[in-house]
Amino acid sequence: MDSSHMGNDLDHVLFTQDQIQERLERLGEQIWQDYEGKDLLLVGVLKGAVLVMADLMRTLPGTVPMDWMAISSYGSGTKSSGVVRILMDLREDITDKHVLIVEDIIDSGLTLNWIQGNLRSRGPASLEICTLLRKPEAAKVAIDCKYVGFDIPNEFVVGYGLDYDEKYRNLRDIGTLAPHVYS
Ligand code: XMP
Ligand code: MG
Repeated sequence: MDSSHMGNDLDHVLFTQDQIQERLERLGEQIWQDYEGKDLLLVGVLKGAVLVMADLMRTLPGTVPMDWMAISSYGSGTKSSGVVRILMDLREDITDKHVLIVEDIIDSGLTLNWIQGNLRSRGPASLEICTLLRKPEAAKVAIDCKYVGFDIPNEFVVGYGLDYDEKYRNLRDIGTLAPHVYS
C-alpha cells in the first residue's frame, strides 16, 4: 500500500521505502563486517520486524539463518504496558551463538529490555540489537543498541511492519498517524 492510499489517516511521511532500503543496505554492510567468521543468528520479533528482517537479511552478501519469537507487550493502544509474555518461543537453541535481535522500533525500551534479559539467560556467545527505528525521548530504560536505522521524534508511527491496531503494516513508507485515528 502506498501513502496515497492512506486517505487522511496519515499525518506525514517520515521515511520513504527508498530511504529505508538505503539505510538497511548500510546497516547490512556493517553487520556483515562485524560478524565475519562468526556463527550469526538473526532473531526477529513478530510481528513488527517482519519487513525489516526480510529486507535487512537480503542486503547480506552471504547466507544467514533466522529465527523468530512472538511476544505481547502492547494491547491495541499506543503505549507499552511493560508486561511481556512469550506467545511463541525460538525454535533454535542459541547457546554459544552470536545472536542479533532484529526489531522494528525501540520506544520505551521495556520490551527489548525484557527480551534481552530472557535471551541472555540462555547463554549466547554474544547478544546485540539492530532496530530500524528508535525514539530517544521515549526511553524508560537504557538499551544498548548496536545498529540503529533512524532516531525519530516521540510520535506514534505506522507502516513498514508497524501497526496501529493491526492496521497499516503493509504501508510501504513509514509515517505518523493523524491524531483523529487514535483519539
Ligand atoms: P517499547 O515501548 O516496549 O515498544 O519499546 C516496543 C514495541 O511496541 C511497538 N511500538 C510501536 N508500534 N508504532 C507502532 O506501530 C509506534 O510508534 C510504536 N512504538 C512501539 C512495537 O511493536 C515495538 O516492538
Ligand atoms: Mg506492534
